[in-house]
Amino acid sequence: MPPCADCIPHTGCRSSPVFTVYRPGFHIFLQRRRCFVNTLPISPSHIPAAERLLQEANCPLPACPQGLVLEKEGEVVGVCLLGGTRVEMLAVASAWRRRGYGSFLLRRALHALGAFAGKEVTAALPADEAGRALLAKFGFVPRGAEMLRPVRRQLTALELGHRLLASHLRPGGFAVDATAGRGRDTLFLSRLVGETGRVLAMDIQPDAVRDTRALLERHGIRWAEVHTADHARLAEFAPPASADAVVFNFGWLPGGDHALFTTPATSIPALEAGLEILRPGGILLASIYHGGANGTAERDVLAPWLAGLDEQKYTVVRCDFANRGGKDPLVFLVHRC
Ligand SMILES: C[S@@+](CC[C@H](N)C(=O)[O-])C[C@H]1O[C@@H](n2cnc3c(N)ncnc32)[C@H](O)[C@@H]1O
Repeated sequence: MPPCADCIPHTGCRSSPVFTVYRPGFHIFLQRRRCFVNTLPISPSHIPAAERLLQEANCPLPACPQGLVLEKEGEVVGVCLLGGTRVEMLAVASAWRRRGYGSFLLRRALHALGAFAGKEVTAALPADEAGRALLAKFGFVPRGAEMLRPVRRQLTALELGHRLLASHLRPGGFAVDATAGRGRDTLFLSRLVGETGRVLAMDIQPDAVRDTRALLERHGIRWAEVHTADHARLAEFAPPASADAVVFNFGWLPGGDHALFTTPATSIPALEAGLEILRPGGILLASIYHGGANGTAERDVLAPWLAGLDEQKYTVVRCDFANRGGKDPLVFLVHRC
């Protein structure tokens, strides 16, 4: 089938080329080769690679380094040195910078230090602006010769969405996660509806489906089904007017290949399908991440589309985090009358 005017073959990331399959009006990105990233505690076998990475940043490797390495398909591409509750140093190989790997590694490091469980964490002041900006993105502020991440709970888009869902969903309900990703939303929905309820989750990436299933299994959830499918096909998996809640968390797979992301070409048909399966009184939640070219392009199509829904049928509430410099996702709540 010939490509439509909007179809552009996609080259993907360096080690994991992707190609486009054309269908009229749709673009589906498929991975030719899997693109795994993972973090591991630093072990003796990582030392030579970690040393090379730190050399690029003119930083010596301590005698008994503690911390995490970031592996991409078996190759060490990042290192984060930790000491007590302090981030000593974070380095990503120059070839892999500006792709979100630094954020991924720092997030994992902060998890390991307990920062997301209420522990105050400090960091050595990075020499470069990019390093300071990365820490600032995770809530660090300068304090003397170091940076500090004060314990201060800010409402995130994820938490806002979860609060809205928690106030709406009841045990025995039917909830749909149209972008399963690593499964956090699927798990949350499954807990809300309980074992008398039903959860339908889908993702176009087999890696995401595998992770979501594994997460559910670890938590003993048996009442959620997870499919590898394009969410534009949502209406094939649930009857019309049946779902109490439908959740879309647009963007790319956390820690995955940033060349694979939701696009309006499938997101609009998916939202249409989501509204079709939503019961009267049900809610659809759409979080639109708009950092980077892809997210901004998607926001510019999805936001007006949602705002244009027929007010006789739907109430659309748009939540933007007005005082946070525009970096947070836009959250839309659609209530079906
Ligand atoms: C921001 S992530 C979702 C995060 C997830 N809710 C979580 O809790 O981890 C967006 C997901 O949408 C998926 N996706 C992209 N295009 C899709 C499509 N056409 N159909 C279904 N899923 C898609 C991506 O593979 C990615 O996993």
